[in-house]
Amino acid sequence: MSKIHDFDVLIIGSGAAGLSLGLKLADQAKVAILSKNKLSEGSTSWAQGGIAAVLDNRDTTDSHIKDTMIAGAGLCHLDTVTFVVENARKSIDWLVNQGVSFTKESKVKKDVFVDGDYHLTKEGGHSFRRVIHATDATGQEVQQSLETRAKKHPNITLFENHMTVDLISNQKSDPKKRRCVGAYVFDTKHNRIDVFRAKATVLATGGASRVYLYTSNPDGSTGDGIAMAWRFGCRVANMEFNQFHPTCLYHPETRTFLLTEALRGEGAYLRLPDGERFMGRFDDRLELAPRDIVARAIDHEMKRLGIDCVYLDISHKNKKFIIEHFPTIYNRCLSLGYDLTKQPIPVVPAAHYTCGGVMANNSGQTDISNLYAIGEVAHTGLHGANRMASNSLLECLVYADAAAKNILSHLKKEKLFDKIKPWDESRVMDSDEDVVVAHNWSELRHFMWDYVGIVRTTRRLERAARRVHMLASEIREYYSNFRVTPDLLELRNLVEVADLIIRSALSRTESRGLHYMLDYPDTDPLMEGRDTILKPPRMPSDK
Ligand code: FUM
Repeated sequence: MSKIHDFDVLIIGSGAAGLSLGLKLADQAKVAILSKNKLSEGSTSWAQGGIAAVLDNRDTTDSHIKDTMIAGAGLCHLDTVTFVVENARKSIDWLVNQGVSFTKESKVKKDVFVDGDYHLTKEGGHSFRRVIHATDATGQEVQQSLETRAKKHPNITLFENHMTVDLISNQKSDPKKRRCVGAYVFDTKHNRIDVFRAKATVLATGGASRVYLYTSNPDGSTGDGIAMAWRFGCRVANMEFNQFHPTCLYHPETRTFLLTEALRGEGAYLRLPDGERFMGRFDDRLELAPRDIVARAIDHEMKRLGIDCVYLDISHKNKKFIIEHFPTIYNRCLSLGYDLTKQPIPVVPAAHYTCGGVMANNSGQTDISNLYAIGEVAHTGLHGANRMASNSLLECLVYADAAAKNILSHLKKEKLFDKIKPWDESRVMDSDEDVVVAHNWSELRHFMWDYVGIVRTTRRLERAARRVHMLASEIREYYSNFRVTPDLLELRNLVEVADLIIRSALSRTESRGLHYMLDYPDTDPLMEGRDTILKPPRMPSDK
């Protein structure tokens, strides 16, 4: 029997953005935080590098702003970048107060840098050491600390194995009167769809990198929030800018595993199989050029030489330093037969971060009242055409704070909506052909990798567009006839997001940042500052 759950605020997603927001609201509001799997199975836990913030007196916010704008290749919004960078130190202080333990300088090396004795590392695009971290497992430390706090708070209820199907509106089609009043949520343990009613609903669902065959992300990165917001009538922006992380472990028998950019920040080289350091042929910043440049250089060399991977080499550094600073990566590589302290490690690029997303303002508000989007799901203007390393956890924290303030400022005026219809399953049956979902899932991720990857052409994108339309119509039909399953819901969302990526990519007839078109190899100065904004064609009904 389906249930109705009532909360002041419904937060969909349990990573850094969702948990921080929950903690910031919970003294004044009753909060539900949903996780479609286990609480800590999202991307936050997998983040290795750290959080960018100006914490050294020799560094400046102007420099952090400038570096972010340069990495973003002419599409970052200066007001957003300034807002985020100026709130960085406060966000780090808040995390420390939540019990997050960052690596101290004394643990690593005496003479590199000091402030409050935290060790700061460097990553691509940063002209200063400004990445605070917890060795090479920053995300895990943040996730665990926030989870511990959230579990103890009496006003926070955590729901694992709860996957949102779609958002619910107050049944108005006029966008000005339309507001979000909650969501239909699939309780995958009990196999039923419940109604969650809320005065404010927040998407903190992360990105969509699983639309690609190879990704550094966990299984849950299926663009759920972007797809739901789009179906609900929100605009999305800059979906063509999908970031590929240059250095993921290449091992045919194991899933893709990230080798943090901080390795290059601490001096690792990229080499070809014959040992040549090749980045000098592509950019003066060598291995620490922004990610789009490094990933494209690797892709170019792999295609030119017909090789399966290139190599990341930090073996010239002190062994003790490597093991102390990168214990997770060291042990993982060792378990697969590679010793980071002694040999170069095979690496390839893999899909890593969705720079575009649901359009949200500096309070996290979307186009629809009472619906917010924070973290990777959102497009705020921070990342432009290429996100700078370690700005993403920072964005989660800053926008959690901003959204909390905004929500609390009008929560008292809001009422729960009392006309929500229960989920209707009267016209569907159990699927008799799960192979359709499995096949389409695999087909989608293959052609996205081949046709909509690091290097694109109009022809490849058009080919992908034809395929995605066919899959979309099959999935629509499947969704209308059969009871939902988690795989079907994720595939439905991925297909929606793939379509948005392809449409955005086709409309950008230039190369900029992460979007590289062989038939438009130059940056078009007329497109400077122009986001790709897609408007939903109509206001759909809730179901
Ligand atoms: O390389 C890394 O550790 C990734 C950092 C990031 O995506 O910000």
